[in-house]
Amino acid sequence: MRRYLTEHPWKIIEEGFDPERQKSSESLFSLGNGHMGQRANFEETYSGQSLQGHYIAGIYYPDKTRVGWWKNGYPEYFAKVLNAPSWIGLKITLNDQVLDLNLLNIRSFNRTLDMHEGVLYRSFEVEFGGGEIVKVSTERFLSIARQELGCINYSLKLLRGTGNCTVEFYLDGDIRNEDANYDEKFWEPVGAQTEGSFGVLTSKTKKTGFVVSTGMSTKVLLNHQLVDIAPTKGINKNRISLSYRLDLNESDTMSLVKLASVFTSRDHPIDKLSDLALDMCKKANVIGYAELKNEQVLAWAEKWKTSDIVIEGDVSAQQGIRFSVFQLNQTYSGHDPRLNIGPKGFTGEKYGGSTYWDTEAYCLPFFLNTAGPDIAKNLLIYRYKHLEKAIENAAKLGFRNGAALFPMVTMDGEECHNEWEITFEEIHRNGAIVYAIYNYIKHTNDIQYMDDYGLEVVIAVARFWVQRAHLSQEKGKFVILGVTGPNEYENNVNNNWYTNYIAAWSLTYAVENLELLKERNFARYQELSDQLQLQLPKEPNSWAEVAQQMYLPENKKLGVFVQQEGYMDKEQIMAADLPESDRPINQNWSWDRILRSCFIKQADVLQGLYFFEDHFDLETLRRNFEFYEPRTVHESSLSPSIHVILASKLGMKEKAYELYHRTARLDLDDYNNEVHEGCHTTSMAGSWLAVVEGFGGMRIINSRLHFNPSLPDLWESLKFIIRFRSRIIGMTIQTNDTTIELLEGESISVFLKGKEVSLSESR
Ligand code: BGC
Repeated sequence: MRRYLTEHPWKIIEEGFDPERQKSSESLFSLGNGHMGQRANFEETYSGQSLQGHYIAGIYYPDKTRVGWWKNGYPEYFAKVLNAPSWIGLKITLNDQVLDLNLLNIRSFNRTLDMHEGVLYRSFEVEFGGGEIVKVSTERFLSIARQELGCINYSLKLLRGTGNCTVEFYLDGDIRNEDANYDEKFWEPVGAQTEGSFGVLTSKTKKTGFVVSTGMSTKVLLNHQLVDIAPTKGINKNRISLSYRLDLNESDTMSLVKLASVFTSRDHPIDKLSDLALDMCKKANVIGYAELKNEQVLAWAEKWKTSDIVIEGDVSAQQGIRFSVFQLNQTYSGHDPRLNIGPKGFTGEKYGGSTYWDTEAYCLPFFLNTAGPDIAKNLLIYRYKHLEKAIENAAKLGFRNGAALFPMVTMDGEECHNEWEITFEEIHRNGAIVYAIYNYIKHTNDIQYMDDYGLEVVIAVARFWVQRAHLSQEKGKFVILGVTGPNEYENNVNNNWYTNYIAAWSLTYAVENLELLKERNFARYQELSDQLQLQLPKEPNSWAEVAQQMYLPENKKLGVFVQQEGYMDKEQIMAADLPESDRPINQNWSWDRILRSCFIKQADVLQGLYFFEDHFDLETLRRNFEFYEPRTVHESSLSPSIHVILASKLGMKEKAYELYHRTARLDLDDYNNEVHEGCHTTSMAGSWLAVVEGFGGMRIINSRLHFNPSLPDLWESLKFIIRFRSRIIGMTIQTNDTTIELLEGESISVFLKGKEVSLSESR
């Protein structure tokens, strides 16, 4: 754990510059607007350690898989959202010396991400070799109001000395991915053009053929007066620059405004891209930086209206949850069902920006409650659109009859991961995809979704489970062998309780929903049965049989479910007994040692108990929590949040609070020493769940909203807003008092600690 940021309710603040922290800060101060995102790289030259990163949603490359020994069924490629042509660059020289924080004497440095405004600020003072001192103040944002636009306002004041200053505004298309499997470059140049103070660079991805036009508008002001000089052009196939020279006297302030546009062939015809990029820059230039920033602040205010969480009495907890909400809103705006949420959002290269089960298991409820059903529905539609490929994917592995195995990692529906254990074995993701449909309908009551899209997915997944399970003669039960459960610190295990449980549940869910459709809409039932060539009643009967006879390992003596067969044979050591120097074990132990140990990376049995809490009594939850949590090292970012929710439910307030910090401040305090690679964006949805379902105790039971709040002792109050069935409901929880308000929508009654409360809109 490393704590270097100042606590503040709305801001992330770094005081003083430490080059060792640069990559971590680049992740933490990242910006995004759903269409694109970027690490907080410096605009000016920086020759120290840095991970340059600018990403555009949906622009990916199928990088050839790297494995030691090829086996049938391996995915051909590992898809990655590409590091894209960069538009932030400003090369500044003063009296022929480059402004580079790695080389100059830094007198002061502050970097601040204002989450309320969605603007990244930086200010610093540096001394040049000739004794000149400059003070730089920068602002940058990716526009929420105009998603294809990014804006920089960079001002430099000469505090001491005089000098000749050159400013080169540039667009750089010569970009690499640090994680390229074979060190290849993924972009090729298409064209470059300039027009006065504007420039456009067009690049194309190899293989996938996505074309991106990146435009820039450049403007220089001296002491707030426009400098009317023609820039010197520099054009080569991968780079465009527009340079300005001017003489600065002591106390002069030079301001640079760079507005950039990013248009892609995903959204527009290829032959229009460079014109669109240029037009957007011209238009933005007319609107002006101040007004564009104003739009940004207003757009963020709108987002915060329904997604903010206010915690009083604990600034560090407050900062953590706002950071989580901010990052989630920066990553996914729900405007395009072809897009999803990569585990690191736009903050780094790891995980390739691909879609994991994280979306269904963690992110969906956040967007359902804060952004509304249509946006959340797009996440389901994304998988629906991939159904055909999921069926092909299963067929490649030998499954038949329309069985679908959704990929563990995907960009466009095809499985694409480097690691076979994850690809072949982590089949539990199929369960999460069905669970998400259930969760969405539970929340919205949009039963039509089941008829139109959901059931096709549910049936295809049921067809997978019945084939993947088989009857063990010895046990007289259905078993599922050779899997990896959510706990990735175990591979190729038999009868992972979580996988078996969610498989059985999804089978039952399929049977029930087919039956319900028959009653509700017989015509659609018939249509679907024909379309899917359902064998009736044979198929649903076989699903029901497998579900009823599924083997679910249990240790009756301890009263706990067993994570997988053989787990109890492991040497049982508690995580608290691990020496600090061994942690995180994934950075200090051999893989072999990890696999043999009893240590659990993330909620596994407990993930199942979280999803299906109402299937179990409180004592069962408690026994399992008390058994598994002490063996859990929480080395997946997805882990602590689930434990917060269960601990809150079980009245373990201290445990819940401790783990809350671990989820909500995971990146800010770098618990797992890896934030330099990027932030854990999907797990931030877990932090939201920890607050709302954990401390707020929100549940939907039989279509009714329930709240059982339990605040950490330090918190004076907790406020959050949720959307539920066309209503917006505001919660204010204090230690001894809870207020529930209907902010929008028709009257409704909800349950507070088991007591019914009627709500009507206050006008
Ligand atoms: C976790 C997975 C998760 C992935 C992406 C891994 O460390 O074990 O459950 O899907 O990260 O967040």
